[in-house]
Amino acid sequence: MAIPHDKIEEIRNIANIVEIVGEYIPLKKIGKNYVGLCPFHNETSPSFTVSEEKQIFHCFGCGIGGNVFHFLMRYRQCSFREAVEEVANRYGLSLPKTKMTPKEEEAYHLKKDILTINEQAARFYHQYLTEEKDAERAREYLRARGIGRDTISDYMLGYAPSRWDALTQFLQRKGVSTALAIQGGLLIEREDGGVYDRFRDRIIFPIFDPRDRVIAFGGRVLGDGLPKYINSPETPVYQKGFCLYGVNVAKVWSQKEGKVILVEGYFDLLSLHARGIRYAVASLGTALTPAQVRLLKRLSPHIILIYDGDAAGKKAAKRSIPLFLKEDILVDIALLPEGQDPDSFISQVGKEGFLNLLSQAKPLIDWYLASGEEETRDNFERRYQFLQEASNVIFQFKNPFKKSHYIGKLCQLFHVDQALIQDLHKNSRDISLGSDLLAAFLNSLTPDERFQLKTIRYLFSYPQMVHEFARENAFKEIVHPLFRQLLDLICEIYERKNELSLSELLLNTQEDIIKSLITKWAIETSPFKLEDGYEILRAIKQKRLKRERQKILTKIKDAEERKDFSEVLELLKEEKRLIKQTEAV
Ligand code: GTP
Ligand code: MN
Repeated sequence: MAIPHDKIEEIRNIANIVEIVGEYIPLKKIGKNYVGLCPFHNETSPSFTVSEEKQIFHCFGCGIGGNVFHFLMRYRQCSFREAVEEVANRYGLSLPKTKMTPKEEEAYHLKKDILTINEQAARFYHQYLTEEKDAERAREYLRARGIGRDTISDYMLGYAPSRWDALTQFLQRKGVSTALAIQGGLLIEREDGGVYDRFRDRIIFPIFDPRDRVIAFGGRVLGDGLPKYINSPETPVYQKGFCLYGVNVAKVWSQKEGKVILVEGYFDLLSLHARGIRYAVASLGTALTPAQVRLLKRLSPHIILIYDGDAAGKKAAKRSIPLFLKEDILVDIALLPEGQDPDSFISQVGKEGFLNLLSQAKPLIDWYLASGEEETRDNFERRYQFLQEASNVIFQFKNPFKKSHYIGKLCQLFHVDQALIQDLHKNSRDISLGSDLLAAFLNSLTPDERFQLKTIRYLFSYPQMVHEFARENAFKEIVHPLFRQLLDLICEIYERKNELSLSELLLNTQEDIIKSLITKWAIETSPFKLEDGYEILRAIKQKRLKRERQKILTKIKDAEERKDFSEVLELLKEEKRLIKQTEAV
């Protein structure tokens, strides 16, 4: 539910960004502004600037900027709504209980209904597994894989009988709408309008969210049939990549044990649980996503990844590194012997053997650097490439101690000095990896894009000139999509408010780069005087004439090739006219 715009504005008006930022980092008043060490990048002299007058912050070191809400969102890794709530609470304001729009209401009820059906279905499958006679095969299958009663009950495992309509019948008896059960992914519609059960003759794994609600299901065949696993499709309550299997159990145990283990498959997790290791979750065979990393982080700050020691497992482990760096967490990795998964391994070595493997886990980054060093010993080119990649990885650490520790480690491993690592990192063109987002972005602009930016920078200082610029058709020049977005926003706000409200600008901007630009411009003194606008307009006209002339020149060349000399003469005349016009501008 969106918070009404004027409420956000009211809260922002009452809040003082200096007070709030000051609670998190020490600030010192210098001139009009406050400065401190930036919490978002590693620095030793303060470039993080807070303007009390404008109620914004901007770091002149890394380019990050925004209003008080943006600061909290980034600092506390929370949503916009949560940031607004925090500020409101601090100043004793309350957020109105906003009424849902009819559309929101409908979506809300749909989700609630699907969750209810899921709950009923999970109970049905669970009861079937534990009580029905024809579930004996399923019980035997689980027994054979070492999964006992406690595990079955903790994860509410179930069995879907082999009939086409077992769940269909059950839901109908309960008076559940078939259409809803289809939307929830439990039933599938036939072409003739009939329905059948999605899961048949499978072990059922209800997938819970952290609030213990059943959001989806997985199902495994009892033998070697294909597909081995099927899962619920995406539904209004289930988005792939946003959940981890087993959080419902792990949230309790990972707190107690002070760690959480990440495995890949359903049975890996169940097998660990059956042997008393209850603080594991499973990613379910897909590449790890940022949402899953945040979930993991909430379970425990001590995360241990368990991957297969084969090439694919190592690759998956490496791919997860940037995700963890983004959340500024160090995770450990334990590699299994090649060809084993946690299930087969613990079955072979038992709980003690598995705990032994866990105790040998080492930080993912250390493993990454060491194995990169080892794997590239015989190839100079690849060694250099790896060094480049690794220095970019290390520069993503927000924590200055971690960063400097790993720079040192990299130097030691490769026998190179720190200056090289710094250089490699600086020369990298990947702006998403760089520490100064804004500078990297500005560096990547072409001269023409720089000119577009200059035009907008001017209008930011003198929004009263937007009409003049519009009259001269100057906006056609602004083609960079981000700049276009910013220009449209400036025009829209100026039209509506007859002034360029900084707070409106920031509240309507999602792009980090644009926020950076706006806050930078707002804090620094404008490089323009009002009359500079005419200079910019002149430059725009000249650009336009130059482009036209370019077109004529191409046409002349073309006509010459065709030996159409009367056309050439005509075109030359036109060119002369354009040159005259250009001079007159
Ligand atoms: P078991 O053979 O029962 O031990 O499964 P496993 O977990 O060892 O399977 P595997 O290593 O092949 O796959 C790991 C995870 O990927 C599984 O737990 C599933 O979540 C997922 N997965 C594997 N096969 C399939 C499949 O055919 N379809 C889908 N949707 N997911 C699969
Ligand atoms: Mn397995």
